[in-house]
Amino acid sequence: MSRVPFICGNWKMHMTVPEALALVDDVIARVASMDGVEVGVAPPYTALHAVSKRVAGTKVRLAAQNVHFEPKGAYTGEISVPMLADVGCQYAIVGHSERRQYFGETDAACAQKLAALHAGGLRSIYCIGETLEERDAGKALEVVGRQLLAGLEALEPDAVAEQVIAYEPVWAIGTGRTATPDQAQEVHEFLRAQLTQRYGAEVAGRMRIQYGGSMKPQNAKELLSQGDIDGGLIGGAALKAEDFAAICGAAR
Ligand code: 13P
Repeated sequence: MSRVPFICGNWKMHMTVPEALALVDDVIARVASMDGVEVGVAPPYTALHAVSKRVAGTKVRLAAQNVHFEPKGAYTGEISVPMLADVGCQYAIVGHSERRQYFGETDAACAQKLAALHAGGLRSIYCIGETLEERDAGKALEVVGRQLLAGLEALEPDAVAEQVIAYEPVWAIGTGRTATPDQAQEVHEFLRAQLTQRYGAEVAGRMRIQYGGSMKPQNAKELLSQGDIDGGLIGGAALKAEDFAAICGAAR
């Protein structure tokens, strides 16, 4: 089954509104004529509204970096699915390792977020990945397999098929140390096999599994040419339009 690769920039806690607008305008111009690849950006909450106006009518999709699972209420500091829909988000990142590590986000909370996003008409980019300690202990596949199925648990198979999975080995995020194409493909293939076993080949064949962790123009082509790597979730290299666009180009 052919899947359209999806490259999404996770801007993390970077970019004021003017900086975000300059970056997104540059990205829009560079990817405008690229067919065969879906492109998204995930600015910080404060820039979503302004960036949304710029990406309207372009090929760039808007993603949030997090979301709360309740639609509204007394949750100081949180942002809901209807609020993200209101500013034009089509995706939200869920379960990024930085949120798991620093903010105690659990698989169970991720499952609630995925369900809330689906109910609100948005898609999730659901992040999973093992730590270096877990990899060294030979537990990488066990860890990511558990995270994968736990996060998707509340969704029906049809809904599961629409979600994007991002495999981000924690030891490769922001470290300059990328998983080798073989290492990444091994995990992606395992994840697709898990999805096939649980949801069937049709659903598993439609799902896009991104790789994330020090992906840059120099290593993108080799990673993205692997059979089960269907795009990338890009951190540092997404903050430079030239590098981000080069990765988008490599995905085609
Ligand atoms: P880097 O590309 O900076 O390693 O970050 C990856 C990431 O965490 C994307 O979500």
